[in-house]
Amino acid sequence: MTTERVSIHGQWSSRLAFILAATGSAVGLGNIWKFPYIAGENGGGAFVLVYLMCIAVIGIPIMMAEVMLGRRGRQSPINTMRTLASEEGVSRHWQWLGWAGVLAGFLILSYYSVIAGWALAYVFRAGSGLFTGQTADGIQSIFTSLTSDPERLLAWHTLFMVMTMVVVARGVRSGLETAVRLLMPALFVLLLVLVGYAWNSGAFEQGIEFLFTPDFSKITADGVLIAMGHAFFTLSLGMGAIMVYGSYLPDNASIAKTSIAVSLMDTLVALLAGMAIFPIVFANGLEPGLGAGLIFTTLPIAFGHMDGGAFFGMLFFILLVFAAWTSAISLIEPAVAWMVENMGLNRIHASVLAGVVTWLVGLLTVFSFNIWSDVTPLSGIPIFHDKTIFDLLDYLTANIMLPLGGLLIAVFAAWQMRKSSSADELAMGEGFFYTLWRFLVRYITPLAVVIVFLHVIDII
Ligand code: TRP
Repeated sequence: MTTERVSIHGQWSSRLAFILAATGSAVGLGNIWKFPYIAGENGGGAFVLVYLMCIAVIGIPIMMAEVMLGRRGRQSPINTMRTLASEEGVSRHWQWLGWAGVLAGFLILSYYSVIAGWALAYVFRAGSGLFTGQTADGIQSIFTSLTSDPERLLAWHTLFMVMTMVVVARGVRSGLETAVRLLMPALFVLLLVLVGYAWNSGAFEQGIEFLFTPDFSKITADGVLIAMGHAFFTLSLGMGAIMVYGSYLPDNASIAKTSIAVSLMDTLVALLAGMAIFPIVFANGLEPGLGAGLIFTTLPIAFGHMDGGAFFGMLFFILLVFAAWTSAISLIEPAVAWMVENMGLNRIHASVLAGVVTWLVGLLTVFSFNIWSDVTPLSGIPIFHDKTIFDLLDYLTANIMLPLGGLLIAVFAAWQMRKSSSADELAMGEGFFYTLWRFLVRYITPLAVVIVFLHVIDII
């Protein structure tokens, strides 16, 4: 049974604690902010279908692989990969996968924190009743006045990074478990309230149709890549976050069941967010392809018109901040765990160091919404055409680094690792489900990622 290793960073108190933490990592801005806006930009139904398929055949198996590697290595992803590579007798270079994950985590968190800052700002805007009775235009200009002001964005980004550093410094376990236990169910209930509002908005059917009726003429190769990248992003896969959480998982917990539970909850939250937002979009004559400001320019319309909207609005953005918070922590945990293991830093110093670096990189995103909004560094390359620095960071990390990380995790888990090792760690026997898992990770994930990449660069 498994290995004798224990993590020096501690362990989750139970299987449920891991599910909560992993769900906290998975459910975040990706579900509520990003999913609706990229679904809107990529034509809706067909995009959603591709995304759901990617969750099922790539996301869940890769999540199992990541948790499995993490629990077997019981260290930061860098050291886990090094240890497992030597144990399996394969190249030491596999540790680079851990490094790439650390880099991806920094880059993602740098812009994630700026968007979480928007949510923080909206807690106060909603609570003060600013949205009450506003038209769609009024709401739009509230959003623009926030994003066009670098100082305000910087202040909120700074606050969010400080919040993240504080929790990471205290250790993943204390505080985090309780936060997720209470706040995730609350977020879920509030989303249901919003879907209820959308139901009565007069355009519910149109919203649902947009989301769930696939029209394949509306999706491009790039759209498929975005859907696949998002499957990784929303489940926190491909960079070691789930691996490091897996390294704190008790030995007797079922990896398959926990991965499936986390993925289902994450998907449900995303679909609910979409069902709340698109009816409001259509009822107010807005465009589904509004972009990154979508939820910040649609949901306030609902809050501005419902009874108790100031209260519900404030509550919603508070919960969104919490969802983002529990995700942000996991983006930086692999780096912090490594610094504690290899640089002899304590958690506090490691968190501050990682936080300061991320904060600095975040300035790129802060400015890309205002003073650098016309700067499109790689516009010479067709797929990067017109992309701002923020767009590039998002595209490079979510659509390229994460799928590539996922591909390598798949290759390691199913081609490099001995079958007896993965079977031992997954502890699900060697029957149908194990065989299915191994088949998906061995063939389907790598092929899918490669085919989608080749399509996008127009080779096939
Ligand atoms: N999954 C989170 C969300 O949907 C974001 C996130 C947290 C993430 N950890 C990650 C994305 C690791 C990629 C990799 O908001």
